[in-house]
Parts: sequence; C-alpha cells; structure tokens
Amino acid sequence: MSEAAGVSRVEVALEGSRSYPILIGDGLLGQPGLLDGFVGPQALVVTNATVAELLLPKLQESLGATRADMVQIGDGERFKTLATYAEVIDQLVARGHNRDTTIVALGGGVVGDVAGFAAATYQRGVGLVQVPTTLLAQVDSAVGGKTAVNHPGGKNLVGAFHQPRAVVADVAVLRTLPRREFAAGLAEVVKYGVIADAEFFAWLEANAAALLAQDAGALRHAVCRACEIKAEVVAADERETGRRAILNFGHTFGHALEAATGYERFLHGEAVAIGMTMAMALSVQLGRAEPGDAERVVALLRTLGLPTQAPDLQAAPLRQAMGMDKKVRDGQLRFIVCDGLGACSVTGDVADSAVAEAIAARVVR
Ligand code: NAD
Ligand code: GLY
Repeated sequence: MSEAAGVSRVEVALEGSRSYPILIGDGLLGQPGLLDGFVGPQALVVTNATVAELLLPKLQESLGATRADMVQIGDGERFKTLATYAEVIDQLVARGHNRDTTIVALGGGVVGDVAGFAAATYQRGVGLVQVPTTLLAQVDSAVGGKTAVNHPGGKNLVGAFHQPRAVVADVAVLRTLPRREFAAGLAEVVKYGVIADAEFFAWLEANAAALLAQDAGALRHAVCRACEIKAEVVAADERETGRRAILNFGHTFGHALEAATGYERFLHGEAVAIGMTMAMALSVQLGRAEPGDAERVVALLRTLGLPTQAPDLQAAPLRQAMGMDKKVRDGQLRFIVCDGLGACSVTGDVADSAVAEAIAARVVR
C-alpha cells in the first residue's frame, strides 16, 4: 500500500504487467481529477435510484469534462438479471457508445456485477471503473474482476472475468448505508483476518467498537487491509484455478443457507457470517483449528452485530443446495478450512457426516 494526500493506493498486480489501483480514502468522491486517466471522453454511469440520489452529483464532479450518460437499474438482487443487463446494453447502443467508452459502476455489488458484465461484453469488452458504495463491494465485489448476473437456475450463472481499470473506495459514502448492510460487509472483512492475517483479526477484535461507530480511520485501515489481501490472492490466481477459492471461506455453507431460505431471510454477508461459524466448527472437527479459534470468530461476529447461528432448517435442503455449489469438482464438494487463525487451505476430503455435524453445531434449537 502507498499513501499520498489522504489517498491510500493498493495495487492489483496481475500477470502480464496488467495492474490497476484501488484508491481508498475518506471524502474522495467529488474531488476533481479523481478519475483522470481511468475514464476517457465518453462514459456510461450505471447506478440505481437510491445511490443516484445520494452520490451521483459527487461522481459527476469527479468526471469533469467526460460526456457521461447514465442508466439506473432496479435496486436489489432480484434485478441482477439478464433483462437488466440487456437494458444497460440497450442504452450503450441507443446513445452511440463506441469501443472507447468506459462504464462506471456507482453502487453496491448488484450494480457492480451487472455493469461489470456489460463492460466485459459490450463490443467484446470496454473499460470499467468500479466506484463501490457498500462496504461489501469495497472489500470484495468491486475488486478482482468477477462479473455476473443471475439465472432462474442459480446465482451468478452467467458472467465473465473482466478487471476494472480502477476501483475507488470512499469510506465517507458508507455513512448512509443501512446498519444491516454495513454489518454484512464487516462479515467479509472478518473473513480476510480468518483466512490470511491473524494480526488483522486481532486488530478487528480490538477495534470493533470504532468500526461500528464508523470511525473513518478505522474504516480506512479495515478496507485497505482487506483489499491488500484480496489483491494478493487475485494476483496469484486471477481465474480461480486454485488458491482464489480461499476467498469463499464460509461461503459454501452461506450460499446453501441463502438458497434454503429463498434468498430473503439473510443478506449475503449475514449468511456468510453463519457459514464461517460452520466452517470453523468443521475446521475444529478436522483437527485443523483450535476450539478457541472458533470461539473467537463467533465472538467477533456477534460483537459486530452479525448472526452466528442458523435457523432450525432440516439439514437436507442445506446439503442439496450445497450440491449446486461452484466448488463441486468431480462430484466432490470442496471446503475451505481454517488451519488456525490467519491460515487456511482448500480440501475435498471431507466426510458427509463431518459436514452434517458442523451444520448441526451452529443451528438454533
Ligand atoms: P447491493 O448492491 O444490493 O446493495 C445493498 C443496498 O444498499 C442496496 O439497496 C443499495 O441500493 C444500497 N446502497 C448502496 N450504496 C449505498 C449507500 N452508500 N448508502 C445507502 N444505501 C446504499 O448489495 P451488496 O451487498 O453491495 O452486493 C451484493 C451483491 O454482490 C450480490 O449480488 C453478490 O452476488 C455480489 N458479489 C459479487 C462478488 C464479486 O466478486 N463480483 C463478490 C461478492 C458479492
Ligand atoms: N468473492 C470471491 C472472489 O472474488 O473470488
């Protein structure tokens, strides 16, 4: 990470000298010249009504002389569809955007994923700048180049890898975020401590109150460290042929929980929080982590206002939902296990009974 004039810069250094910055700061949006060099003379801003009302004028100040058109998509996961993607493409065509255009995604993960997929495919790929406005998007979805829309048959089934030219994470924009959405983002922040950095995990424990109070310094540090870890993992395995799967710690359980509850009961980050407690229970059972590690993860998530136990669902729908998980290879589910706080590995060698026990350990009865 480097720092200049209140802006921290984390570089995502990909193979073939491809590289892009994540700019992190408090009050970046609205600064003139912020997007110089990342956006050309023409751009399409993709956002939604909620975010546009709060932040579009600031973004426009940072776009300077760029001729920017705008398209608003529906707000919510149910709009992350092929139909919404087609609306964005229709606007690009209708307004005569050519291969030099840049798509600017202003919003949370839904906006980022749809806009990113449009950028990946319009005229076989145009420039993309991610301006994530939720904590989850700043520490996860806007970084790393995964773009997708959902299909009635499953989440993120249609997508592409398409790296942005830059990511601008302004922690000031998080102040208007609903409390639950903010906490859901913190779950992903905790994930990075568990899988890659015990010291960061301890820092999160010590600074939980500051984070909950949205202290700008604490938030900046958390976003920076999370982005540094994600950048390292993505740089080493851009297309998830192996190691990148560790970013899905807790997600196999979490996705199954979301599916089994109809995607309505839990926000993604909340399901991941519960999923991480299940993954920790599994790690302890397999002798990879200590019971004390699992207890610390549960305690931190709870302090951050996140759920740590699943409702009493039958295990069957959860297991069935797991079968759809993208980490299934040759019919075998792969799990990310914690090898003690700050370390993790991918394993395919897990008995069904161990998985069932891990789920049972975290279900409210
Ligand atoms: P979201 O995009 O639905 O945003 C959550 C809510 O917050 C929305 O109602 C949004 O309008 C609102 N909002 C956004 N910014 C705001 C602000 N600054 N102030 C007030 N309200 C604001 O949800 P999310 O959690 O950001 O993203 C979830 C999506 O991200 C899912 O579709 C998930 O699949 C995807 N995702 C993608 C990746 C990836 O690598 N591409 C990784 C993780 C998650
Ligand atoms: N959110 C997981 C990844 O980007 O790989």
